[in-house]
Amino acid sequence: MASYETIIVETRGKVGLITLNRPKALNALNSQLVGEVNAVLDGFDKDPAIGCVVITGSEKAFAAGADILEMKDKTYPESYLEDFITAWDRVAQRRKPIIAAVAGFALGGGCELAMMCDFILAADTAKFGQPEIKLGVMPGAGGTQRLTRFVGKSKAMEMCLTGRMMDAAEAERVGLVSRVVPAADLVEEAVKVASQIADMSMPTVMMTKESVNRSYETTLAEGIRFERRVFHAMFAMADQKEGMAAFAEKRKPGFKNR
Ligand code: CAA
Repeated sequence: MASYETIIVETRGKVGLITLNRPKALNALNSQLVGEVNAVLDGFDKDPAIGCVVITGSEKAFAAGADILEMKDKTYPESYLEDFITAWDRVAQRRKPIIAAVAGFALGGGCELAMMCDFILAADTAKFGQPEIKLGVMPGAGGTQRLTRFVGKSKAMEMCLTGRMMDAAEAERVGLVSRVVPAADLVEEAVKVASQIADMSMPTVMMTKESVNRSYETTLAEGIRFERRVFHAMFAMADQKEGMAAFAEKRKPGFKNR
């Protein structure tokens, strides 16, 4: 496996584990780190041995935002010409599922990166926020849009306008995170959940992800229509026959990803 300077990459069975690793900058997201994450995700998406990905940070910080020192002197034409931030969103375009395992700070671009993943498991130490307003800017990697869809207008507006942080309990209460676990168990729990997903039929997992994500982009009627078409199509897959036969025969299914 290639070596990286800002992340640590491991595989645990069928799970790809990416650990953000710029400890001196609380995992602030610079262009190198985003490039490395995308390169690894490109590989995981192509690798049939990988069924699910976990992105995590350190105990202290998932990521404390975009790297302020890297971006502070950017001009408008520079950010426009290089299309600053757009490459980050590739994390949200991935076809295999990605779990964010968040401990400590997930601020600014860190919170936005977590929200680009398919769901967020939080340690009880997690703190989420969009503090960009305190820097004289607003969220630029999806925060005003995705946070609003997660938690509704009132709370998203308060978070984005004041920059205050939300703790793990509040984040779970308002639906930003799927579950809160003790910090010491976070990565193990995320890998366990990811392994369960990776053991399912991979095309079924990917189509399910696609269908849930469709609910963000379309009307209810169109979304239901999309779901119904994909659901019907699943009856053309050997994995549907295997999954249902295994239930009827009271045994574990052996999915073949076809
Ligand atoms: N960019 C660059 N460096 C950062 C950073 C960031 N976003 N966040 C932290 N660091 C660096 C600090 O500069 C510091 O480096 P030095 O030791 O060299 O001084 C180191 O990480 C440790 O940070 P602190 O000493 O500040 O640690 P703390 O525990 O006292 O505070 C914190 C932690 C509250 C997270 C604080 O570091 C902080 O407020 N960070 C900035 C958070 C922020 O504003 N994020 C939004 C960035 S803008 C953005 O993300 C735009 C977008 O939408 C894409």
